[in-house]
Amino acid sequence: MRAWVIRKKGCPVQEALRLESDYPTPTASPGRVLIKVHAVAMNPVNWKLVETWGLNRMQKVPGVPESDVAGTVVDGDLQGTGLQVGDAVFGLVPAEHTAKTGQGCLAEYVTVDKHLLTKKPDNVSFEEAATFPLATFTAMNSLISTGGLRKGANQRVFINGGSGGVGVYAVQIARAYDAYVVTTCSSASRELVQSLGPDEILDYKERPLVEQLKAKFSGDNKFDIVFDAATGDADLYHQSPAYLKPKGMFVDVVGPQQHLKHGYVGLLRAFGDMLNRLVRPSFLGGTPRKYKLVMMKPTKPELEEMADLIRQEKLKPIVDEVFKFEEAVPKAYERQKSGRSKGKVVIKVQ
Ligand SMILES: NC(=O)c1ccc[n+]([C@@H]2O[C@H](COP(=O)([O-])OP(=O)(O)OC[C@H]3O[C@@H](n4cnc5c(N)ncnc54)[C@H](OP(=O)(O)O)[C@@H]3O)[C@@H](O)[C@H]2O)c1
Repeated sequence: MRAWVIRKKGCPVQEALRLESDYPTPTASPGRVLIKVHAVAMNPVNWKLVETWGLNRMQKVPGVPESDVAGTVVDGDLQGTGLQVGDAVFGLVPAEHTAKTGQGCLAEYVTVDKHLLTKKPDNVSFEEAATFPLATFTAMNSLISTGGLRKGANQRVFINGGSGGVGVYAVQIARAYDAYVVTTCSSASRELVQSLGPDEILDYKERPLVEQLKAKFSGDNKFDIVFDAATGDADLYHQSPAYLKPKGMFVDVVGPQQHLKHGYVGLLRAFGDMLNRLVRPSFLGGTPRKYKLVMMKPTKPELEEMADLIRQEKLKPIVDEVFKFEEAVPKAYERQKSGRSKGKVVIKVQ
């Protein structure tokens, strides 16, 4: 089959990948379903697994990258899934699996765990369906299972990064759960973010974000959940008592990643940064708010809830740009890595 194949690592992903026409087609096995891939959406984790010092030890070479997929069922273990050969589906191959086995989605065929695959809602295309899984699981894990977001509980939620792949779905989920939502973006993304229905938008380029939050949300309008889906900035957490309720939860999906660019020294800095956030008690100057660094874990019930929200149009696909399969390198990866994409970067495979 045709596949983009990682042939080296520790270099820019654009240099690591080669388009090959004779890569072995995977075969279905117990618990896994073979699908013909129509569309793939990109996520930062997949290129970071190739490029980032330390993290790239996990990446198998040769291997195929990418996790989010939409396609049609070809073969495999369909027992208990309600799926049939030929069904249009969407789902996730977790990045840990693509890294360990080398079997990711940026190819004509991929196998997916039968519990992480479901019918594609009819009201979205393959390109649109592929945008949801990883980013929406991340938003659901962060806001609902970790942050404690509940339907109709009138909670106040702050989401940093409302225009990114995770942010566009986090804002919609928080709205679907009736929360009061405040989010951030630059002026270039404002129109898009406004269309997702948040109650307030802060332009993080206008004034330092922490200053804006302290000025506007330090009275009896503090947040129940602060969700950082953009920067991992330690200060946003350490200053949070000013705008996060005492029993509120600070949820982060970025953490001290920026330090990892600096090899061993960066690793030590990242470790110190995390100790400071997670275990330093408040009597020793630690921040008196709960902090959780979330590593996305997909679940079948969340996948079904995701599909229902899509059918009800409470979760609308946000596509930044669709690229052809041959354009994955350099165009699609350049766009994803720019940190400026609005919603999701998609590759149409066939
Ligand atoms: N822990 C996990 O399980 C997990 C899962 C998924 C993602 N992540 C991490 O979460 C982060 C976000 O992922 P993503 O897929 O959403 O990334 P993305 O789509 O590449 O994010 C791009 C967006 O970020 C916005 N942005 C850039 N700098 C910003 C800032 N300072 N403040 C607010 N918004 C800013 C940009 O908006 P403007 O152009 O308007 O500035 C752009 O729309 C990444 O670091 C990723 O690795 C972690």
